[in-house]
Amino acid sequence: MPSHAIEPVVISTWWFGRPANERAGEILLQGGSALDAAEAGVNMPELDPKVTSVGKGGLPNAAGEVELDAAVYWAPTRGVGAVAGMRGIARAVSVARRVMEATPHCMLAGEAARVFAVGQGFEEEELLTPTARQRWEEWKVRPDLAEKSHDTIGLLARDANGDLCAATSTSGLAWKLPGRVGDSPLVGSGLYADNAVGAAAATGIGEYILRYCASFWIVEALRAGAPPQSACESFIRWMAEDQPAYTEDMVAVIALNREGETGAAATKEGFEYALTRGGETRMHAGPYWPEFRRNNG
Ligand code: GLY
Repeated sequence: MPSHAIEPVVISTWWFGRPANERAGEILLQGGSALDAAEAGVNMPELDPKVTSVGKGGLPNAAGEVELDAAVYWAPTRGVGAVAGMRGIARAVSVARRVMEATPHCMLAGEAARVFAVGQGFEEEELLTPTARQRWEEWKVRPDLAEKSHDTIGLLARDANGDLCAATSTSGLAWKLPGRVGDSPLVGSGLYADNAVGAAAATGIGEYILRYCASFWIVEALRAGAPPQSACESFIRWMAEDQPAYTEDMVAVIALNREGETGAAATKEGFEYALTRGGETRMHAGPYWPEFRRNNG
């Protein structure tokens, strides 16, 4: 790569971020845009029924219906598309992109989002897999067995033009009330990007994340000069000190600045993320609150 070339970078959340990053990285190496890369990357867990918190195979709401939230933020044009509480279409992030490109709006919700997607040629299918149905049936007889599945795919990409894209997709909190929408499709909470500064995305308990506008907060910290790692840790620190009880649950954030530097942090141990540079993808453990509080005083 010539020294002046911009290196494509992809960072995304959780173990299923690896195939997402690998797919996105291929597209970027072929000269594709960060938007194309982010969509194709997020489609990977959406279409993998083994992933029980995203797309097909996601755990359902309390009524046994899989309801998906997703969004895309294409920074060069400040293009935004999102869907909330959409049923029946696995590639929710692609529907979100279609909202951005084919309508004057930023978000469609519920049944109208499904109808829009079908009208746009998206395939309708049963998203509730036999495994997810069985877990829902077990939960109905043992609701005390709390399921804390809320592992959003959040993916940030920088392409060879230096353009940034953020994308998210999730089936949200398992056993949620029908109609509940989390942070993932909400600009500023689940994702945000500014081509002049950087991008951020969040995963974990949506009710906590959206109260703090996590992704906007982190991008504004980047704008003020913070490196991505310190911006992520500062956000978790702020939330943890303001609401200590939130650190008993998982909230994690990732960030990518326009220089291609990355960061990640979580409220508790167990968060992992995928990072792709130069065509190579590696998994990393996310620093977590008690650990970096100890290290940084
Ligand atoms: N962070 C995903 C959700 O809470 O829905």
